[in-house]
Amino acid sequence: MPMPSAQPRKFAICNQKGGVGKTATTLGLASALADKGKHVLVIDMDPQANATTGLGVDVDDATRTTFDLMSVTSEGAAADAVIASEWDRVDLIAATQSLANLEADGANDLIFRLDIALEGVDLSPYSAVFIDCPPSLGKLLFAVLCACDSVIAVTEPTIDSVRAITKVEETITNVKRRANPKLELEKIVLSKKRRTSEHQYREDELRAAYGDLVARAGIPELAARQDAHSSHTPIHAYKGGRAVDLQVAYDALLKELSINILGEPAA
Ligand SMILES: Nc1ncnc2c1ncn2[C@@H]1O[C@H](COP(=O)(O)OP(=O)(O)OP(=O)(O)O)[C@@H](O)[C@H]1O
Ligand SMILES: [Mg+2]
Repeated sequence: MPMPSAQPRKFAICNQKGGVGKTATTLGLASALADKGKHVLVIDMDPQANATTGLGVDVDDATRTTFDLMSVTSEGAAADAVIASEWDRVDLIAATQSLANLEADGANDLIFRLDIALEGVDLSPYSAVFIDCPPSLGKLLFAVLCACDSVIAVTEPTIDSVRAITKVEETITNVKRRANPKLELEKIVLSKKRRTSEHQYREDELRAAYGDLVARAGIPELAARQDAHSSHTPIHAYKGGRAVDLQVAYDALLKELSINILGEPAA
């Protein structure tokens, strides 16, 4: 019998709070890994579909999306939903706005459908799977947490950040106890950092509360992020502004994650 190939780690990029930099982190990490010649799968589970747009993908009627995967229970269905994005080495399962309608779906197994859709799908060509989450504590988020291995919690260094991360932790504990025992909070990422005393104070507060769980690499707030996003360009391919500072930050963050960058994809 052939040995099963090593499957990549699946990371959920979350925070129930909106606008904190989840999509920017998802795409920044995808860009960093692809820049090292590795293949990446991004799964867009946010009805706003910002990761889909950022990757330069226009969804048409023929595209299977996370809405399709979440609408029915179908083992392995994710294999037919993977499409190439405009970025080299980055594939995507796209999202559409219709995904939002599923929050009201009362199906008993709704929160397991993404996991079931990924079951048996050979993801070994990828070094990591990054799942961009919606800003909510609804069923779509639970579906992601049931399907992934690790959580990367993204937060801005603001007054609400410790409280928001405590909520993420609580949610992980619930899912871990009832549905996905292997789930873990792998890193907390400080995004959109400015050089102000307030941001430094909030960063110190978060590090005091969470210690080494807070990634050493923080992501600076720089206009190059928006400019690269608007032109659907990976930050590592973007020339202009202080894009290099963002490249360095995402490279450093990538190194702190449990992804085997040098060799084969992590088991
Ligand atoms: N490092 C950064 N520098 C400058 N702007 C940034 C940075 N990260 C994110 N932004 C901007 O902040 C806004 C929110 O970022 P992003 O869309 O990544 O957050 P989000 O958490 O995914 O939001 P949502 O909850 O709506 O999905 C966007 O306009 C984005 O371009
Ligand atoms: Mg987003």
